Formats: sequence, C-alpha cells, structure tokens
Amino acid sequence: MSEPRTFRNLGPLCGSVTVPGDKSISHRALMLSALAVGESRIEGLLEGEDVLATAAAMRAMGAEMTRHEDGIWTVHGVGVGGLLQPEAALDMGNSGTSTRLLMGLVASHGITATFTGDASLSKRPMGRVTEPLGQMGADFTTSPGGRLPLMVRGACPAVPIEYRLPVASAQVKSAILLAGLNTPGITRVVEPVPTRDHSERMLRGFGARLDVDTEADGTRIISIHGEAELKPQQIVVPGDPSSAAFAVVAALIVPGSEVRVMNVGLNPTRDGIYRVLKDMGADISFENSRQVGGEPVADLHVRASVLTGVETDPAIVPSMVDEFPVLFIAAALASGTSVFRGLEELRVKESDRIAVMAEGLRRIGAVVEEMEDGLTIHGSGGEPLKGGGVIETHLDHRIAMSFAVAGLASREGVTIDSMEPVATSFPGFEAMLAGLAG
Ligand code: S3P
Repeated sequence: MSEPRTFRNLGPLCGSVTVPGDKSISHRALMLSALAVGESRIEGLLEGEDVLATAAAMRAMGAEMTRHEDGIWTVHGVGVGGLLQPEAALDMGNSGTSTRLLMGLVASHGITATFTGDASLSKRPMGRVTEPLGQMGADFTTSPGGRLPLMVRGACPAVPIEYRLPVASAQVKSAILLAGLNTPGITRVVEPVPTRDHSERMLRGFGARLDVDTEADGTRIISIHGEAELKPQQIVVPGDPSSAAFAVVAALIVPGSEVRVMNVGLNPTRDGIYRVLKDMGADISFENSRQVGGEPVADLHVRASVLTGVETDPAIVPSMVDEFPVLFIAAALASGTSVFRGLEELRVKESDRIAVMAEGLRRIGAVVEEMEDGLTIHGSGGEPLKGGGVIETHLDHRIAMSFAVAGLASREGVTIDSMEPVATSFPGFEAMLAGLAG
C-alpha cells in the first residue's frame, strides 16, 4: 500500500489534457490481435495494470506482443483455435474484464487455464459467465460461490448456444461472443438492454461474420458465425470516456475552471455520463467531432458550472455504469436532490460502489441516503464540501479518483488511503490533476 494522499482546492483548473486509451477497447484489441493470423498494430493502447494482465495472459497462450519505443504495440496472433495451454496460472490482478473475456476465449479451446486475482477480484461473481460457457461445454472448478481462483477446461469443439442475458453486462455478452469465435455454427446472445458494443464493432473490423438484429422493443440479437478467420488490423484506441469523466467533473465543480479534454471516445453505448451532466446544467461542448478507429471521438471543452440535481432513468445505467462514483461527487455539489436508482450492478464492481460511496460522501460532509439499488444525494448548492477524514478505497480505482476530485472542491481537503489502485486504469491521473492546477 502506498502512503495516504490528500487532494485540496488549489484554485481554478485550466489547460488542455489527454487521457489514456480506452480500457474496454484496449483489452479487446489485444485479444483479437492475438487471434488473428499475422501482425496487428495498436496505437494508443492503455498501459494500465488491467490491460497488461490481458497482454501477459495472451502471451502465456502463445501470442507474441511487442511494445515499441514510440508506444505502438505489435501483436503476432496464433489464429482462432490456436491458443496454447498456459504453463502457469493466469494472474488477472484487479481486472474483471480480463477474467471474464479470457474465460470466454479459453472455453472453446482444447486447453485448461487457472485464473487468479487480487482480494477485490476474488470476491466478484463469476457464475454469470460460467453458466453460459458451461452450456457451451466448458467445465469449471471454482472456489466457493463460483469465485476465483478457478480453473476452466475448454471444450473443443464447443456447442453453439442462444443465451438471453439475465444481467445487462458487456463482459458476459463478450465472453459468449469470444467463445463463439471458435465454436462451429452460430452462437447468439440476446441482449434486452443494450450494453457497450466494442466487441461487436471490433469483431467485425477483424473480419468475423457478426449480425445484429434489433427488435421493436430495443432487444438486440447478436449472432456470431463460428470458426472465424480473423485478419490482422491497424487499431487506433481513442481516449477513455470513463477516465475523461474525472477531469470533466473536476472542471465543473472547481469554480473558475476551464479545461479541454482531447480525443475522448463518445460511443453512444458509453456517453451516458455526458448526457446526464448536460441535463444537470453542465457547460460542456463537443468540438472537432470525428471517427477514430471506428469509434466516434470529440474534444470536450468544459467550463465550471452551477449544477442542479437530477434523477437518472435506470435505462441509461449501462451506458455509464462506471461513471456513477464521480457523478455522485457532482451531485453532492449540485443544488437540490438527485436520485439514482437501478444501480444494483454497482454492488459487484471492484468494490460495492453504492456502500463505499455513501460512506465516503458522509465522511466528507455530504448528505446521502443509501437504497438497495441506488443513492439519494442532497446537494450542497455549490458550497464546497467540508472534507477531512480518510477515504477507504477498497482496492477500487474509481473510488480513489472520485474522492480525489471531491478534494479539489472541499474546504479541508480529502485524504485517500492509497492511490495505488489508480494504476489499473489511469496511470498519470495525479500528474494530470497537478498539470490542470498549474
Ligand atoms: C466492461 C464492462 C462493464 C464495465 C467494465 C468494463 C467491458 O462491466 O463495468 O469496467 O469492457 O466490457 P459489466 O459488463 O460487468 O457491466
């Protein structure tokens, strides 16, 4: 554990920043490149611990990956069906995305792999992936409660299934689609509530045959044709909208701030936070809108704003599932009451983000009520929060970054027990804040 760190108001934030590459896209870029035959090239890869865990696992299963001095990664894939038996357990660290997506890949290869992780990951539910992957023929030996450490024995050939997602989860959807890549026939995922679609976009980009049908009620049926041949690609990873949200909320709540966050991915299945902040009265403009690597991207121009409380529609949750912690900070400084419901998935993220945020917000002087599926937050009306007290991050990077941002708009500063978890998704976070504080 690193030393506690205190974040204080150092005056208005100004300047222009970039944020690291998108975490979801980075994982998928490495996995699909590792399954293509030939050399792929990836620019803008997030070099956070979570993505490096994926890289190490793909290397352990036979892919060759090289990081060049200019930050470009090249990957020589083994081909779909060509993954090798890893010699040792795959250490997933803190990364749920690595674990669940790689379990999907292993499930339809004739190999066995053991997955281990840190204390946070070892508490997270894996039944949501072992259930459908088991139906495809994979066999699992898990720790009690279906958790890590666990062993997957892949099925070769696996059996194609049609699976209706019981939870809105892009990780579960992606695990099944990735398993479907090496499964004869057509594997289908029925998604009643749309979740991030990076897997679908990238699978198509690599040449897999993937069809998406949308029914009248919005349900999506995603079909992947198995025994695919993937062709190597040149990938440019846009900046992560989830990481950008910390800079954006900081600029909104520190009076007098004006900040540009460059090159932010704005895939419509990921941009819910920006829609909600705009509804709260945030002054955010989207400049230089363009496409990068098949994803919509813009530069965000943000000015400090008087925010008003908001009630979010549960239907928007999947498009901003990782951004609620920092949105809660914005709500704590808004005028009026905000109500956030339909957030039960937040309880099974890197920490129980409803309980941990409620506890931390109270500690720094905010008025909140916890519900089973969400939070009610009574905003301060723009008055800085008191601050003080130490926030426990529970190995959760987004808890650490959210309360660091809160510290910038507090009277006494906010102390975070350890900023170490931030390395999983946003190396350079503290340097970015320091740069904006000038
Ligand atoms: C992710 C999906 C989300 C998100 C996670 C990344 C992905 O998880 O919270 O940070 O890359 O597919 P769920 O699919 O479990 O909601």
